[in-house]
Amino acid sequence: DIVEAFAPALIDWQRRCGRHGLPWQGTRDPYRVWLSEIMLQQTQVSTVLSYYPRFLARFDTVQALAAASTDEVMALWSGLGYYSRARNLHRCAQMVVSEYGGVFPFSWQELQKLPGIGASTAAAIAAFCHGERVSIADGNVRRVLSRLLAYEGDLAQAAGQASLWEAAQQLAPLAPSLADMQAYTQGLMDLGATVCTRSKPACVVCPMSGLCRGRLQGDPARFPVKSQR
Ligand code: ADE
Repeated sequence: DIVEAFAPALIDWQRRCGRHGLPWQGTRDPYRVWLSEIMLQQTQVSTVLSYYPRFLARFDTVQALAAASTDEVMALWSGLGYYSRARNLHRCAQMVVSEYGGVFPFSWQELQKLPGIGASTAAAIAAFCHGERVSIADGNVRRVLSRLLAYEGDLAQAAGQASLWEAAQQLAPLAPSLADMQAYTQGLMDLGATVCTRSKPACVVCPMSGLCRGRLQGDPARFPVKSQR
């Protein structure tokens, strides 16, 4: 069934067909993974590719970022938009230094106590850096999983998002290695970005088409269900 088949199929597909060689994929340094995830929250990969190396060249550690002036952080962020991200980024770096001795906390639970790190960003850091078995669930992943499961809950509501996340936790690989959790997490993102896109899901090339309840019902793009608010 889906719970057993999904994770192995996704990991296999990500290794063959997913995105590889992005600059934040070759590292387990939480600082580097965190920075990439914050930049990628509302900004396309192609844009982040030009900002990320410049930012790291200037601030190569969380200590360097924490010690910078707000003006300099904002100047390096300029053009990426959503400037509250940059303010939270700076505050987060300062908190990691002052409260955690310069070491990002390891667990999904603890990471969420930091400014700008929500449940999904915390999951990405814990999975990519430490192999924690926790599922990301940003907007793109919620779309993919709502189609896979033909999920009728309302994703415009917190309760609907929460119960989809519970389902996502069931789908994660059992007893994963670090490499498994990395490929699985990246695979969720890659499937949403390259195959299961918002308006035109490419079911003919999708590795999950045989498992996908939305597809089997005939109209995968009907999901996610969102009430008008
Ligand atoms: N979007 C959010 N996180 C990402 C990642 N690690 N790789 C590609 N796109 C992303």
